[in-house]
Amino acid sequence: MTTVTTLLPDLPIDKDEVLELSDRFWNPGKTRFWSDAGVPLVIGERSGYVLTDMAGRELVDMHLNGGTYNLGHRNPELTATLVEALGRFDIGNHHFPSVARAALARELVASAPPGLKHVAYGSGGGEAIDIALKSARYATKRRKIVSIVKGYHGHTGLAVATGDARYAEIFLADQPDEFVQVPFNDLEAMEAALAPGDAAAVILETIPATYGFPMPAPGYLRAVKDLCDLHGTLYVADEVQTGLMRTGELWAISKHDVQPDVLVTAKGLSGGLYPVSAVLLGERAGGWLEEDGFAHISTFGGAELGCVVALKVLEMTQRVETAVRVAELSALFAERLGALRDAFPDWLVEVRQDGLVMGLVFATAEGAKPVMRALYESGVWAIFSSLDPRVLQWKPGLLLDDETALRVLDRLEAAVARTAEGHA
Ligand SMILES: Cc1ncc(COP(=O)(O)O)c(C=O)c1O
Repeated sequence: MTTVTTLLPDLPIDKDEVLELSDRFWNPGKTRFWSDAGVPLVIGERSGYVLTDMAGRELVDMHLNGGTYNLGHRNPELTATLVEALGRFDIGNHHFPSVARAALARELVASAPPGLKHVAYGSGGGEAIDIALKSARYATKRRKIVSIVKGYHGHTGLAVATGDARYAEIFLADQPDEFVQVPFNDLEAMEAALAPGDAAAVILETIPATYGFPMPAPGYLRAVKDLCDLHGTLYVADEVQTGLMRTGELWAISKHDVQPDVLVTAKGLSGGLYPVSAVLLGERAGGWLEEDGFAHISTFGGAELGCVVALKVLEMTQRVETAVRVAELSALFAERLGALRDAFPDWLVEVRQDGLVMGLVFATAEGAKPVMRALYESGVWAIFSSLDPRVLQWKPGLLLDDETALRVLDRLEAAVARTAEGHA
């Protein structure tokens, strides 16, 4: 029997050795960034919402890789599903119909806002965004894609071109002629971008994560959808971070009275165990599936093992108990975070929240970084927003227990108090 240990005979057990190997062979930039930031984390054991650093310290995970671990790390129901699935399935052959792909597609369509009829699969979020944008171009025969300034949709070819220059220019992947950005919550700018009638798609995260979760103004997303309809443009809802019950609804876009033409989900769909992503397509956007089903091909897209895990994720996420837990946790965090903001109004200047999607805005340009570090030192892992480092992303798991939630809140209060002193 081959075990992980025999496959990795030199499996380093010393954290410093891993850091040294990572610096040499893996990604020196990332390895050094985290060491310099005071977060030299190398994740060892992981279970539920707790990570253990290789040096032995436990950290409550309030990052969850953007919702990948919504249901916890190595959730026993999900690992059991994957283990059972391994007895019958593998990745499958992407050219042929399969029971797992068909079953997941049916469940996704059943769960989705009306009008979404077909599912195309990827293995990650960026790939799914590329499929979404290709589908919109197919449907409209237009090239232009409109996104928001500081939006984030991943790093593949089309996805990265919709995003911040910080990630596109280094690889000469920016395409300013075809990819237009407008400020978030600015309807006039959106109207001006769509009025020429040459945009294939508007792509929007329902609440932009990497920008620090600024909330859409009341009526904004609905008004954007109306503009899309007026100008023959498709609305693509990126629900990679906001979907799967994080806001208390399975899909956050449902709260905004918008029926998107395309909806993208990834991250949490995998259960943190087997990469899979999905693009839900309406009639127009899904037209290519009828005309030429081979127009988009991905060997690992919709891998059968991933589809089985995703089916379980959907089932667990839609349980009544899960919705109840999300509502209870949302109320607890709202109360304690509101009090914290009132206690430190010059430092914690704003609390953004929709359910378990939360951003804590600090007063200085990089204010979330010292808070992240103080939290790390006290046993909590939460990350700053890369495109607005004033904001700490605060992302509790859907099934977090009360005791851990209270512990994390105590530690957050201490970290805010400590960093407020340095700030004053
Ligand atoms: C909103 C959003 N869309 C798309 C992506 C891309 O997903 P992936 O990293 O799986 O390619 C991300 C990743 O963080 C994201 O946050």
